[in-house]
Amino acid sequence: MDSKAAFTIGTVAVDGDVVLAPMAGFSDVPHRAICRQFGAAMSYTEFVAAEEILARSKRALLLLDYVPQDRPVVFQIFGNDPLKLLEAAKIIEELEPDIIDVNMGCSTRRVSARGAGVGMMRHPDRVAETFRLLTNHLSVPVTGKIRLGWDDNQNYLAIGRIMEENGAALIAIHPRTKEQQYRGKAEWEAIARLKQSVNIPVIGNGDVWEPDDIARMKSETGCDAVMIGRGAIGNPWIFSRRDKLSLTMAQVLGIVRRHVWAIVDYYGDRGLILFRKYSKRYLGQMPELGSSVRKLLQTIVLEEFLAILDKIEHEFGGDLVSELSLYSPASTSPVQRVHSA
Ligand SMILES: Cc1cc2nc3c(=O)[nH]c(=O)nc-3n(C[C@H](O)[C@H](O)[C@H](O)COP(=O)(O)O)c2cc1C
Repeated sequence: MDSKAAFTIGTVAVDGDVVLAPMAGFSDVPHRAICRQFGAAMSYTEFVAAEEILARSKRALLLLDYVPQDRPVVFQIFGNDPLKLLEAAKIIEELEPDIIDVNMGCSTRRVSARGAGVGMMRHPDRVAETFRLLTNHLSVPVTGKIRLGWDDNQNYLAIGRIMEENGAALIAIHPRTKEQQYRGKAEWEAIARLKQSVNIPVIGNGDVWEPDDIARMKSETGCDAVMIGRGAIGNPWIFSRRDKLSLTMAQVLGIVRRHVWAIVDYYGDRGLILFRKYSKRYLGQMPELGSSVRKLLQTIVLEEFLAILDKIEHEFGGDLVSELSLYSPASTSPVQRVHSA
């Protein structure tokens, strides 16, 4: 084991205990790069349907793109058929990920109603077969990401044990049910219960909004690592345990520039449009920037975008984010209203 490693997943050493969550539409190469620079310890790709991989869809391959700095990198797949999941996993194993993860948490109807995502948790036999097949036939560790269950009949402990018995190397859990979607509070006690009932590492996830939440989740649950999704959009500082409210606007704008350059470099012209959802999270909660942010969200010209950032910096660069923000990130942040896959 690597002496720096915070924990290991099968044979893979992970050099930290905070990771960026897989998020469709968000956790792409540029976003992962920014989060890794601030200390996120591992990269998950956005989830990809087994069928898309089997069809050799170009979109699927783009979603599985990664750079060396992403390592350890986890490819996440979903589906409802263990044999198809195996076939898809065999294909993408050739792209040399460090780990392959099965999504059993996605709650959108499109995915879950056909028995994929969290829908798989309703079929423990399929979970067992999937992990048996994948762990027997792949050479990389196989992991899974789950919820509490479909509804109030929560079966995460049973599913966790089935995963472990069938060779899973790690379980990540977002402790809400499918029915809850993103409502209510993530039930961290369940992370502790899962951690106590299995001998493989457990990553806790859900409602980590502030740096203090990281240590609190670890101490309250005993989880091996903490996974952050929505709380890291427009807030990569959370990985370095730095509160965004303590930064100056100049510091925030420095990272906005770095992120926008990375996204334009990666996607070309459409990068600026893709960046809008991040701009909202970096700067959208600061009413005094209102008209400038609106312009940022409209422009399709990089030079114009950068000039608006310069103007914001000129006016507010020395101000603290806490002085400009309406909300504390923990309570009523609009980030919490991001819709999810
Ligand atoms: C926009 C969005 C996209 C998501 N896409 C995925 C995904 O592709 N795979 C996955 O396992 N979870 C996905 N999730 C769930 C997150 O990984 C995470 O479990 C959830 O957001 C709770 O963590 P948080 O409170 O830190 O955001 C997504 C969530 C959001 C908000």
